[in-house]
Amino acid sequence: MNTQRDGRLAGKVALITGGSSGIGRACALRYAEEGADIVIADRDAARGAEAVAEIRSSSNCRALFVEVDVAEEASIEAMVAAAVKAFGHIDTVVAAAGISSAAYVSGVPAADNTPAEARHLINMPVANWQRVLDVNLTGVMLTDRVVARHMIEQGIAGTIVNVASSAARLALPGAADYCVSKAGVAMLTQVLAMELLAHQIRVNAIGPGFIETPMTQAMREKPDSHAAMIERTPMGRLGTPREMANTALYLACEESSYTTGHTLYPNGGMFVG
Ligand SMILES: NC(=O)c1ccc[n+]([C@@H]2O[C@H](COP(=O)([O-])OP(=O)(O)OC[C@H]3O[C@@H](n4cnc5c(N)ncnc54)[C@H](O)[C@@H]3O)[C@@H](O)[C@H]2O)c1
Repeated sequence: MNTQRDGRLAGKVALITGGSSGIGRACALRYAEEGADIVIADRDAARGAEAVAEIRSSSNCRALFVEVDVAEEASIEAMVAAAVKAFGHIDTVVAAAGISSAAYVSGVPAADNTPAEARHLINMPVANWQRVLDVNLTGVMLTDRVVARHMIEQGIAGTIVNVASSAARLALPGAADYCVSKAGVAMLTQVLAMELLAHQIRVNAIGPGFIETPMTQAMREKPDSHAAMIERTPMGRLGTPREMANTALYLACEESSYTTGHTLYPNGGMFVG
């Protein structure tokens, strides 16, 4: 078992939305390796309990699960209050909770068989658009600001890491709701970073490419879609959740002390090659 006394996040408390699965879960485990106490907040309580058990068995860190729906402001306020009640303060947050479409349920690997045309913006039901924006953009905004208010109140020079996507900069037909929500997260990160400068709170984001998580499972299982993801990625492979966690960790800790308002794109060279 690691002692983590010298870890990059020793003595810190990290709140991770979407921490039950995928990238958020990898961040929870990675941050615990660096000595942080972890609050996993998610709407999936069963996998959240598993993640908490994994942290407790592999580190000396404290870990707690809090159920939340990030689309609901009252639920986010209750999440932050529960984290502060349990551990006293929040020093860093990862806002990773997200959905790829209104129909997506994490951990249920059902392929979306809706014809591509039906997902185009001219045909997309407004309710689907709204749901994706509510979770992916408003959910991040609410998480960030409720945590930021807490940090300001307690005088904490904290860090915020939002999970955007490389889709913030790719116009993917049939995914306007997702692309726009993630482009919104990138700009939210910039504006909030400027607004929180005076409080020494840094706000950054990561914009993953195609990553091996439940979100891409249905695509990975379809040979055509799998080939298309590889084709778009100069490194010729999908990224791992741990690679995303390492990028988030850099932005969360002192090593990125002169960086704010940035989105880093760990995407296998997608925007270069
Ligand atoms: N997997 C990829 O290729 C990829 C690429 C770019 C960005 N992302 C982003 O990374 C983030 C994490 O996705 P992932 O790939 O780990 O998928 P995932 O499905 O494994 O994890 C998403 C988590 O968010 C939770 N969640 C969803 N809606 C919620 C809500 N309303 N309230 C609380 N929790 C909620 C889910 O229960 C799940 O635990 C998302 O924001 C996603 O858009 C993923």
